Amino acid sequence: MDDLLPEWVAVEVAAEEDYAGRLLPEEAAGLSERAVASRRREFTAGRVCARRALGRLGVHGLAVPTSPGRAPVWPEGTTGSITHTAGYCAAAVALRSDVRAVGIDAERRTILPGNVRGSICLPEELAWCAERPGEDWWPAVHFSAKEVIYKLWSPIVGTWLDFLHARLTIDVAAREWEARILPGKLAESPPGTPAVFRGRFHVAPDLVRSAGYVTDSELRA
Ligand SMILES: CC(C)(COP(=O)(O)OP(=O)(O)OC[C@H]1O[C@@H](n2cnc3c(N)ncnc32)[C@H](O)[C@@H]1OP(=O)(O)O)[C@@H](O)C(=O)NCCC(=O)NCCS
Repeated sequence: MDDLLPEWVAVEVAAEEDYAGRLLPEEAAGLSERAVASRRREFTAGRVCARRALGRLGVHGLAVPTSPGRAPVWPEGTTGSITHTAGYCAAAVALRSDVRAVGIDAERRTILPGNVRGSICLPEELAWCAERPGEDWWPAVHFSAKEVIYKLWSPIVGTWLDFLHARLTIDVAAREWEARILPGKLAESPPGTPAVFRGRFHVAPDLVRSAGYVTDSELRA
């Protein structure tokens, strides 16, 4: 994931032993007692990676609890993001002095069914994907990028953002995406809400990854 983010973001990708790592008590409180073993393992790997990334920024021994809205609560002066999918987990953390929010996402490269594609992609995005026959991963790239957008939007704006509230354009050669929030959604959002989100993506045979960040200077006056 560090290939998609600037060097001042500390990125940690989980190793096998991280899935059986240790949670701090404040972190364990964010995990339901009814959580199945696979959920425990991915949650644990995410927290272990998050604390290791924080350590690289000089922040040691602090927990990353869970907010009532299920987002990670980063230690004072830091921000970050966690993602996990089958066989892959990563955390990315940065100092708030460098960035307002960081978002990362990883998804298995699956062919999304038509009804799912339609709830994630706007008609013009579906048309763009349809122009690329044989490259069946583009809806998954849209999905992954839009999950990143939500992980950036949520800590900044704090409201719900639907998949169809953002229009994505993809620069295939540069492996970059840009998303514009639709005017109607922007109009009802508080001052400071970013109108545009930018990020990078990578498509591997089995995995689609996406990441982005927002600086304080990108927030609307
Ligand atoms: C929250 C959401 C983005 C997570 O994405 P996901 O692909 O399901 O799962 P990932 O493994 O990539 O990410 C899960 C992690 O996201 C983090 N997360 C959860 N809610 C979050 C929020 N509101 N803000 C930021 N991060 C959040 C958590 O760290 C979680 O892992 P954890 O529970 O182990 O701590 C997704 O479940 C969701 O609700 N999406 C709908 C909203 C959306 O994406 N809109 C698109 C706008 S264009």
